Amino acid sequence: MIYLDNGATSFPKPENVYKAHDYAFRNYGANPGRGGHSLARECARVIYNTREKIREFIKANSTREIIFTSNTTEALNQGILGVVSEGDHIIISKLEHNSVWRPVEWLRKNFKIELDFCEHDKEGYIILEDLERKIKKNTKLVVINHCSNVFGTMQNLSAIGQITRNKGVLLLVDGAQSLGFEEIDVQRMGIDMLAFAGHKGLLGPMGTGGLYVREDIILKPLKTGGTGSKSESPEVPAKGPERYESGTMNTAGIYALGAGVDFINEQGLDKIKSHKLNLLKRLIDGLEGIVTFYGPQSLENRGPVISFNLGDMASTDVAFILDTVYNIAVRAGLHCSPLAHKFFGTLEQGTIRVTPGIFNTIEEIDILIKAIKEIRES
Ligand SMILES: Cc1ncc(COP(=O)(O)O)c(C=O)c1O
Repeated sequence: MIYLDNGATSFPKPENVYKAHDYAFRNYGANPGRGGHSLARECARVIYNTREKIREFIKANSTREIIFTSNTTEALNQGILGVVSEGDHIIISKLEHNSVWRPVEWLRKNFKIELDFCEHDKEGYIILEDLERKIKKNTKLVVINHCSNVFGTMQNLSAIGQITRNKGVLLLVDGAQSLGFEEIDVQRMGIDMLAFAGHKGLLGPMGTGGLYVREDIILKPLKTGGTGSKSESPEVPAKGPERYESGTMNTAGIYALGAGVDFINEQGLDKIKSHKLNLLKRLIDGLEGIVTFYGPQSLENRGPVISFNLGDMASTDVAFILDTVYNIAVRAGLHCSPLAHKFFGTLEQGTIRVTPGIFNTIEEIDILIKAIKEIRES
């Protein structure tokens, strides 16, 4: 199979990630933080090591700012539900994934939260003046999708972070599609919270993700329970990461996620980025005039995601043929982002989404191009 659905989850993983997962599953079998015996301590150290790798990767100040979750959705829910209280105002972009839109709509419905959407230009870039204008006295939080998982638009985080910092509101970035592709420096960019997937661009296993939270921000925990520390107290610890990580952790997954970060560091982000953009360029050049592409015209501020349609064919029909006849996996439909589809006018038809990974080749893209051309002619 030609797998071009890395936006959903990256596959295959690098060999060292498979090996790390297997090794950890066999050797780090005790429960980290639960019990003082040497294996439990070793497991806690394994988790700490990945925390440190992520800290370094996003240039956070302290490992205590890195919280592990089971996916980006959980991280976003923790970030959003953890800071907002009744009467607060939230601003989100119009390209948000349902893992942002649904929690904020839930808050709006149940807790009298005010919600606004910032405006975008026709390629999906946030109009910064509009964002600045919309921030008001009770604005608590701005949530921005760094790279649209449907259209690939990559927002200018430094400019957005400057606005939120000047206005004294919190900035939560959804980095699900961008981490492992674009460099992120949370301190320089003024990011207060960053939600990320372990299983996409960072090349770790499914069931891994995380949230960076600046150390002075104390969130209401999404869940409470056993943390292996302060067991005499009815409350979870006052500070992170233990505050947010109740319950047994995914030690093998987190260890393998660390191996994914090692792989990216060895390759270098520049190389990964230029490889994925080269594949997108090949696709755009090969299908120019044949399909309708959406989103940014230039590759410059685009993530590793592209969407298109073939005439008025249902995107799901095209994807079905690609899968069943050509053995090519792409995603079609609404990609869990109805807001983004509404913005680009593809709510009815959906889009065919191609998200190349590090192991895809130009030859595979050429096979996809040929397949699309044949589908058009059939
Ligand atoms: C932009 C964006 N945010 C959030 C998510 C949710 O990620 P997860 O599946 O890790 O919960 C996705 C998933 O594709 C996404 O693309």
